[in-house]
Amino acid sequence: VRRLTAPQIAKRKGGDPIVSLTSYHAHTAAIVDNYADFILVGDSLGMVMHGMESTVGVTLDLMIMHGKAVVRGTKKALVVVDMPFGTYEESPSEAFRNAARVMKETQCGAVKLEGGVRMAETVHFLTERGIPVMAHIGLTPQSVHVMGGFKTQGRHEDDWDQHFEDASAVTEAGAFSVVLEGMVEPLAAQITREIPIPTIGIGASADCDGQILVLEDMLGLNPAPPKFVKVYGNLGGQIEAAVKAYSDEVKDRKFPAEDQVYR
Ligand code: KIV
Ligand code: NA
Repeated sequence: VRRLTAPQIAKRKGGDPIVSLTSYHAHTAAIVDNYADFILVGDSLGMVMHGMESTVGVTLDLMIMHGKAVVRGTKKALVVVDMPFGTYEESPSEAFRNAARVMKETQCGAVKLEGGVRMAETVHFLTERGIPVMAHIGLTPQSVHVMGGFKTQGRHEDDWDQHFEDASAVTEAGAFSVVLEGMVEPLAAQITREIPIPTIGIGASADCDGQILVLEDMLGLNPAPPKFVKVYGNLGGQIEAAVKAYSDEVKDRKFPAEDQVYR
């Protein structure tokens, strides 16, 4: 099966909802690949995989390492890799150099970067030169230190214009899709109605053209998930039970048993 492409995702505007999850790791990505249209190797891996407090410390090398693992582990979904903080904001040419490295070394099909109006020139520069870009507006976690925390966007209607401008700027710049993160529901719904590219919601609206969640959050591995996460599994509990059972059996000399040794 050939992988989905960025243009195929773009064509899904207003159609069947686009299904997406993050993955950072080959075995989990292989499962997600059976159901997702695209898989995001998100910079949330800084927190989930590496215990960081925010995504600010994530490096390009880390993104490339996990991007490679996810591409190797999957066959069908489009793989999108996040550009980490500090690797694309300074100039379009810096962004191109680093995004091209991500594409070459991971063999992913697109990159994602945070920012609306402020990143439009860069989105255009990359797409013109062969790199499909997914934009990301609303709550942009790489700006946590400027925002002073992770704050839901659009609570005051005075701020809505800025978000509409961000959405149209990345659309006009050539983004094939845009993530709407952490914004009040009616704002996300209205942006979705107004722009011609698919919106992917996270803490946004059921009216978005697609949805994404962090895999480990929806699997129940995050002990304190945000309100917008629906927890579909209890992997934390299952891992805890399995580790405890193993620990008990080792202490009781019940593991390894006859089946697990070579005679
Ligand atoms: O890094 C990430 O996981 C993301 C998604 C949650 C959109 O950017
Ligand atoms: Na991200």
